[in-house]
Amino acid sequence: MRSHYCGELSQSLIDQHVTLCGWVHSRRDHGGVIFIDLRDRSGVAQTVFDPAQREAFAIAEDARAEYVLRVSGKVRARPPGTENPHLPTGAVEMVATEIEVLNRAEVLPFQLDEPDVNEGVRLKYRYLDLRRDFMHKNIRLRHTVTRTLRRFLEERDFVEIETPILTKSTPEGARDYLVPSRVHAGRFFALPQSPQLFKQLLMIAGFERYFQIARCFRDEDLRADRQPEFTQLDIETSFMDEDGVMCLMEEMIRTLFKTVLDVSLPDPFPRLRYDEALARFGTDRPDLRAPLELVDVGDLMKAVEFKVFAQPANSPGGRVAALRLPKGGELTRKQIDDYTAFVAQFGAKGLAYIKVNDAAKGRDGLQSPILKFLPDDVIDGVMRATGAQSGDLIFFGADQAKVVNDALGALRWQLSNEHGLMQEGWQPLWVVDFPMFEYDAELKRWQTLHHPFTAPCVDDADRVDVDPANVRARAYDLVLNGSEIGGGSIRIHRTDLQGKVFTVLGIDPDEARRKFGFLLDALKYGTPPHGGIAFGLDRIVALMAGVDSIRDVIAFPKTQKASCLLTDAPSGVDEAQLRELHIKLRKAAGRTAATGDDAT
Ligand code: AMO
Ligand code: AMP
Repeated sequence: MRSHYCGELSQSLIDQHVTLCGWVHSRRDHGGVIFIDLRDRSGVAQTVFDPAQREAFAIAEDARAEYVLRVSGKVRARPPGTENPHLPTGAVEMVATEIEVLNRAEVLPFQLDEPDVNEGVRLKYRYLDLRRDFMHKNIRLRHTVTRTLRRFLEERDFVEIETPILTKSTPEGARDYLVPSRVHAGRFFALPQSPQLFKQLLMIAGFERYFQIARCFRDEDLRADRQPEFTQLDIETSFMDEDGVMCLMEEMIRTLFKTVLDVSLPDPFPRLRYDEALARFGTDRPDLRAPLELVDVGDLMKAVEFKVFAQPANSPGGRVAALRLPKGGELTRKQIDDYTAFVAQFGAKGLAYIKVNDAAKGRDGLQSPILKFLPDDVIDGVMRATGAQSGDLIFFGADQAKVVNDALGALRWQLSNEHGLMQEGWQPLWVVDFPMFEYDAELKRWQTLHHPFTAPCVDDADRVDVDPANVRARAYDLVLNGSEIGGGSIRIHRTDLQGKVFTVLGIDPDEARRKFGFLLDALKYGTPPHGGIAFGLDRIVALMAGVDSIRDVIAFPKTQKASCLLTDAPSGVDEAQLRELHIKLRKAAGRTAATGDDAT
């Protein structure tokens, strides 16, 4: 239907007859001459209609935004002074002689070039939202990313294998999406939270190097970087230890960034132990672009009369930490109050601080509501530990370690961001040496930090069931600019050890057999040592595209309330369908899942 793409028009085509197809990007009437900017996937070209071409001119006059046209004519240089240097095709235009309306378009619910369209409207009319240049760029970037990753893995003999979507629950810490079986009354499939168990079975099957661009489903609380349905680059290998997996995977990520963004990431990526990450940054996915660090001052506070500090300093699960903001002395009372409200979101009951007006004057050079509670040697200790200088401000957090870490961890990022301290660029890091288990005080039982198939460190394997608190896992997470973009581990490949881990988790042998019998059986038939990783593809693309939400790099995402505004899913079903599935509802379905205010 066409001879060229719109974006191809250039001076090399001057005097040639071309035919273009596309959408009316804009139409301007300039005293008798009509200009239509025609857009297709490649870009925009200016077409000009002269009243002398009566038939074509009349059709052009009727054309409206987003009509689909086929236009033919000759390319010419734009008259001097009318070139558009902002447009790749801006040096030329087409003098149209023929025009055909391939389809009309109604007035759009929003203008494609409108900057702040409500996200609910964008998602309801996603096909129009996707027409926009920046969404095209994002979706095509995603394609380039998957293609580059696939090529890397193919060159290294990985085999792409599909695993089932209708399957049995794989525990990754979220609720399952269930699918009722018609054939087996009262039974359900679960959609995979990840292909974890199947990829392990593929190692038992001897494939040695597997990958898949795998859709995963998790019914969990959603955020900007979490969707109920998302995509992993899922990988598993045999006969490789954690160093082998990490080295190969960082080579892949380096290749990706070099190929797609021409960015050179560090070689090797830095590694940080889990406990060090928490101590210095308050989180196991620190954004290393933010330079501020937490400093423990618990030892200094054990004997002070200020109970707010002394109590957590003396309790085993407590923490007292300081965070120095260089030049923070300039903060106003109001700003400090705002930061106090900010940390309150994370459960912090206050945000003590010391302003360092003049470091040389000791106590007299400081300003703080808590100064009166702290003896000189403690103040000296704090100044030394934080390296505080005149003009700085020191914040304090004192509470259960988790509260202090969450609060000051978020505050260090916020302060770095708001005070121009954030560094440019890309900061990848591996977080390693995770504890294998953490105790859930509410449920009163142990849980795994990763999944239950993660192997314990070799030195700790004997203690799995006797001292779970001190067992470390052979797990590694990849963090990029504060986003957890991947996580994996070396797996348990022996039945007895897998059984022990289930026991620690409170899964008795009967339940283990019911849920994971197929895995426990398979482990008995010559399972090689194996391990792997899964990357959050949506998160990687979002970071590379520079967008805040993974919804902007997914063609048809769900809202924050896990519904699809475009199709109005999930939706009610006929009584007959339910009967066939042997299901009776406890509560009638609401009229619609997807309402406008459900957007984000
Ligand atoms: P994990 O649960 O850490 O590991 O998931 C791997 C990566 O997937 C991404 N991710 C998500 N992205 C978008 N929306 C979500 N709801 C979501 N949940 C996770 C994250 C995360 O790092 N089977 C193991 C991997 C392994 O051990 O090999 C697993 O699924 O970027
Ligand atoms: P108060 O004794 O409640 O007047 O608190 C004195 C100072 O300590 C105030 O600046 C509070 O914001 C701060 N503060 C109170 N509780 C905590 C806490 N758990 N961690 C850090 N600072 C706190």
